[in-house]
Amino acid sequence: MRPFRTPLPPSRLPHVGTTIFTLMSALATEHGAVNLGQGFPDFEGDPALLDAVHQAMTDGLNQYPPMAGVPALREAVAAKIEAQYGKRYDAGSEITVTAGATQAILTAILAIVGPGDEVIVLEPNYDSYAPNIELAGGSVVRVPLLAGSFRPDFVRIAAAITPRTRAILVNSPHNPSATIWRAADFDQLAEILRPTDALLISDEVYEHMVFDGERHASASAHPELAARAFVMSSFGKTFHVTGWKIGTVAAPAPLSAEFRKVHQFNVFTVNTPMQHGLARYLANPAPYLDLPAFYQRKRDLFRDGLAGTRFKLLPSEGSYFQVVDYSAISALGETDFCRWLTSEIGVAAIPLSAFYADGRNQGLARFCFAKQDATLRSALQRLARL
Ligand SMILES: Cc1ncc(COP(=O)(O)O)c(C=O)c1O
Repeated sequence: MRPFRTPLPPSRLPHVGTTIFTLMSALATEHGAVNLGQGFPDFEGDPALLDAVHQAMTDGLNQYPPMAGVPALREAVAAKIEAQYGKRYDAGSEITVTAGATQAILTAILAIVGPGDEVIVLEPNYDSYAPNIELAGGSVVRVPLLAGSFRPDFVRIAAAITPRTRAILVNSPHNPSATIWRAADFDQLAEILRPTDALLISDEVYEHMVFDGERHASASAHPELAARAFVMSSFGKTFHVTGWKIGTVAAPAPLSAEFRKVHQFNVFTVNTPMQHGLARYLANPAPYLDLPAFYQRKRDLFRDGLAGTRFKLLPSEGSYFQVVDYSAISALGETDFCRWLTSEIGVAAIPLSAFYADGRNQGLARFCFAKQDATLRSALQRLARL
């Protein structure tokens, strides 16, 4: 019998293939390399958090929660944002629990972007932004961060605004460059957006990883911007449980209402026991207040270890990434260099080109230092040859 035919519609995302993260992780496994490529911790979350979730399950909290999230968690998040950034969101109408920040970003984009709309993204950026905008039928308008410093280029951002600009997407602390936005940066953005109806999508998943005594500048702390912003956060990042895929979005009630229309028919809601566990765990702020010191120590261990190599270290102001310039070591393109580093030196990294649409080569690679000290030391031992 002839096999039945599988009709294949035109791809909605014809340019999307297997990501470099998957490729590098596979290569790392193949060569027994230390994987400092993909951004996730190789250590466990706090047992107190795991216990709280387990308790919720054994308490029978296992059925559908309300669409926007468990009220106790939304209350806890509203209180946390107020304590951190001085902005009071209404837990009932302005905080929504999502299946991670990635879903929150897609949902926000589907809620506000349609054919003919433009969305500004700053390059380099997290790889879901552009496909999200394309899925919504919008046009991606790419504005590069300043070469070398990776700071926002407000002249070019202002020049990119048109009557069709629906939103701008920003990310601080920034993946992959590990730079942060400061309050003055948000002031400049506010000035540019003031005469427009453009919305702000602020990806703040690394909000609790800001170093050297700086404080995270959140869009929610900027009243003018908060009035037009979706602000995304990720419990997965903050509490070392990236596989839980749970986060939140905070936005003014009318924007949250539009968000929830899409959310309702997308995931509808997010798993119940994790929400209850997180609600209880958030009663103690110490775990996230201690996070900057926790990651700063790892950053310094990693940077100190690389100081004797020919890698040039770019600043790491926030997030759990460290970008290095390897041009004194090799003339290879970034992808080839990272392949070589993985297979020959035994440490996996991600080429910065993976975060640009044009895959440009600048001689830069990104390491993730969200790893046990022993993992970092083992990577440093291998990298010491360079
Ligand atoms: C900038 C940025 N945004 C969002 C995410 C995803 O967050 P979540 O795991 O909560 O979906 C990541 C994860 O790497 C990220 O780097």
